[in-house]
Amino acid sequence: MQRCSIVECPDTSAPLFEQAVSLFQLIFGLQRPFCDEAERWRSILGKQKRWLLLCAIGDGRMVGFKLGYELSDTDFYSWLGGVHPDYRRHGIATLLLATQHRWCQEHGYSAIVTKTSARWDAMLRLNCHAGFAVIGTEPDRYSGFRYILRRQLAQCASRNAPTSAA
Ligand SMILES: CC(C)(COP(=O)(O)OP(=O)(O)OC[C@H]1O[C@@H](n2cnc3c(N)ncnc32)[C@H](O)[C@@H]1OP(=O)(O)O)[C@@H](O)C(=O)NCCC(=O)NCCS
Repeated sequence: MQRCSIVECPDTSAPLFEQAVSLFQLIFGLQRPFCDEAERWRSILGKQKRWLLLCAIGDGRMVGFKLGYELSDTDFYSWLGGVHPDYRRHGIATLLLATQHRWCQEHGYSAIVTKTSARWDAMLRLNCHAGFAVIGTEPDRYSGFRYILRRQLAQCASRNAPTSAA
């Protein structure tokens, strides 16, 4: 892959939205019977005041995504994310995370909250690497429990955040 760029999905009817759902299903192997995943996302996002879907595009296709929504005036919830198995360890998740955090700072949030199941070891490492701290746990239907993580954001956007991934 020559270059990866991050684009914001404008709305839930955009092709990028459907592509992110397909990538999610590929990464997590999740095909819920009797459930339209795109409709499930639309229903959840439709109840939120503000949401953000970032898409990583490389080699002319979507190679990663990060989706989150507002929890409160101060906190943003980083809900789902992943990188295509063929494109891992190239800094794409780091770039998505840095872009999401910059957007959150620019939109006035002071913290990001996320939840990670113990079985997603790579995501846990990535988040700890990025400055998240474990603030609790809660039951998880797949692996017993999952971690709740929170990262306090600095007042100003970081000038050192990466803007591209190799
Ligand atoms: C977790 C995931 C998003 C990481 O994507 P990525 O683009 O490969 O991550 P990056 O290249 O930006 O890696 C950043 C850092 O995260 C950590 N990391 C990423 N993948 C890792 C792995 N397989 N094992 C250990 N550490 C890992 C490392 O610290 C890495 O830094 P380094 O490459 O300098 O060592 C990707 O592996 C993925 O989609 N996994 C499956 C889905 C998932 O876990 N989703 C989260 C559910 S909440």
